[in-house]
Amino acid sequence: MGLKIDDASVVYPAADGRPPVAALQGIDLSIENDDFVVALGASGCGKSTLLNLVAGFLSPTSGQILLDGRPVQGPGADRSVVFQKHALLPWLNVMDNVAFGLKLQGVAGKARYEIAGKFITLLGLDGFQQSPVYKLSGGMQQRVGIARALTCDPKVLLMDEPLGALDALTREKAQELILNIWNETHKSVFFITHSVEEALFMGTKLIVMSPRPGRIAHRFDLPFSRRFLAGESARHVKASPEFIQLREEVLEIIFADEEAVE
Ligand SMILES: Nc1ncnc2c1ncn2[C@@H]1O[C@H](COP(=O)(O)OP(=O)(O)OP(=O)(O)O)[C@@H](O)[C@H]1O
Ligand SMILES: [Mg+2]
Repeated sequence: MGLKIDDASVVYPAADGRPPVAALQGIDLSIENDDFVVALGASGCGKSTLLNLVAGFLSPTSGQILLDGRPVQGPGADRSVVFQKHALLPWLNVMDNVAFGLKLQGVAGKARYEIAGKFITLLGLDGFQQSPVYKLSGGMQQRVGIARALTCDPKVLLMDEPLGALDALTREKAQELILNIWNETHKSVFFITHSVEEALFMGTKLIVMSPRPGRIAHRFDLPFSRRFLAGESARHVKASPEFIQLREEVLEIIFADEEAVE
């Protein structure tokens, strides 16, 4: 069970005098329950297209996406998306932002605030329930976005460069927070990043994609997030020889692709 992408391809049709774009070709990928799958790859290799397929914002040109054996035919509450730029409602406070998805689903006020309150606590936002979100730092706003994505108890959490806009220290803390939440809630995660270090640290599986047409060029199984969750410090994990060796290997693959594109 879980999510299965079966020989999926996406061609964006020709538009404004530009030729069609083969954004993805022959993508096979399984995301089992409890998997944390990270996608890396040069800009334009189709990472967001793949995430949008799983989210149901886009249909494959060929192939199919199955969730627990059923074809994905559009967006649904079983999948939540966290974007790089948190799509928050700036005029609402933290509580109402986190509860917003539940409101759209028709969950009544009291139940809504109870569930939202639980995720506000989980994301370390207690005390800020009534603060308007425009007053919060970028890192806190991103946590509001993640809390909101979790409220509908999705099977799959889809994250498109969720930490890309954060400073280095906040980013490392957010990585640890997301791993702890993943460990507690047992979601399947599909996570896109441009940071090789972040990818290696967070994922249980890594796919490295190549452009034109976008395809999965390399796959790795990763042990590092489990080591962190077993008690090793994040810095210790990231400084270990195995981590550094794999980081260099993956960087070489990505640099080779960037050169091929230029
Ligand atoms: N709606 C669209 N119409 C036409 N072409 C598109 C559309 N969306 C994306 N593309 C093209 O498809 C290819 C893959 O785009 P995608 O956004 O999936 O890449 P990405 O790997 O997420 O890139 P980045 O790392 O820059 O976010 C690119 O060549 C892009 O220009
Ligand atoms: Mg993208």
